Amino acid sequence: MANFAIVGATGLVGTKMIERLGESKLEVDNIYLMASSRSAGRVLQFRGQDVVVEELTDRSFDKEIDYAIFSAGGDTSRKFAPIAEARGIVVIDNSSAWRMEEDIDLIVPECNEPKLKRKIIANPNCSTIQSVVPLKPLHDAFGLKRVAYTTYQAVSGSGKGGIDDLVNGQNGQEPKKYPHPIYNNVLPHIDVFLENGYTKEEMKMIDETKKILSLGDDVKITATCARVPVLNSHSVDINVTFKEDTSVEEIRKILRDAPGLVLVDEPDKNAYPTPLEASGSDEVYVGRIRRDISQDNTFYIWCVADNIRKGAASNAVQIAEMLEARK
Ligand code: A2P
Repeated sequence: MANFAIVGATGLVGTKMIERLGESKLEVDNIYLMASSRSAGRVLQFRGQDVVVEELTDRSFDKEIDYAIFSAGGDTSRKFAPIAEARGIVVIDNSSAWRMEEDIDLIVPECNEPKLKRKIIANPNCSTIQSVVPLKPLHDAFGLKRVAYTTYQAVSGSGKGGIDDLVNGQNGQEPKKYPHPIYNNVLPHIDVFLENGYTKEEMKMIDETKKILSLGDDVKITATCARVPVLNSHSVDINVTFKEDTSVEEIRKILRDAPGLVLVDEPDKNAYPTPLEASGSDEVYVGRIRRDISQDNTFYIWCVADNIRKGAASNAVQIAEMLEARK
């Protein structure tokens, strides 16, 4: 039995967290749903029961709560996660606020385990989560030398505003969330531009991959992230060079057996992962595995996952499931 709080419960990810926690085998004694004052008093459902949304304040964690799962933006996490932590609550935070802090665990349950130096655990970036699930067993088998990511990210990753821009763009409305129309377009721009010419999203993929897989500086990683006019589920093209050579068959075998993955790789039947297929699932779909003919020991893997489920809500709930199973 455990008591949960969901902070940002009215948002796109928060709503999915409520749904995913409801589907979980975890025994939930009490659930507290928190959001801004704008949503206080709204009624949401958890496992068929009405739950009234409360305003998040400094006093919100003065009750018996075991886990507080946050998805209410970086500023809210920076301010309120330490307050919950000080009350002995395990915080699982979906924002990027804490991810790269040295004493904070950055966890994908298929890949690594929390050491819990602090009680704040960070949920990684959505594109990073789905990429490390296949890379982890391959790194264990052949050693990563270099990874080059190219992403094709769905508008749901930008919250409701991203979905509105795509849907309303079909009717000719000007975008509000993005600097350009996303309907009928591709934007090579996710999060802010940094001094080195990369975007913050691209640097998150690079830095978080290294942290989750405990990679040294000898492993080189690069990324290009693009927003595409897809409602839900991100696609990532992973170009990976291994220290040891292997074969397409060996890679398929490892990925077929590894946790959290579904191999869809029968090109002769037009079978490969797509966002429509991955949406609604917690698994990461992989396929189009082929040798890169331009470089030694190098392969392509096409990887698709539901960015709101595995890329955010489900990974957070799986972290709680992992901690409960450890008890
Ligand atoms: P609210 O709906 O009351 O604004 P999304 O990422 O889909 O926009 O959702 C953000 C979530 O974070 C919402 O649940 C939102 O609540 C919540 N939120 C945003 N700012 C705050 C805040 N200052 N305090 C508490 N919750 C917040």
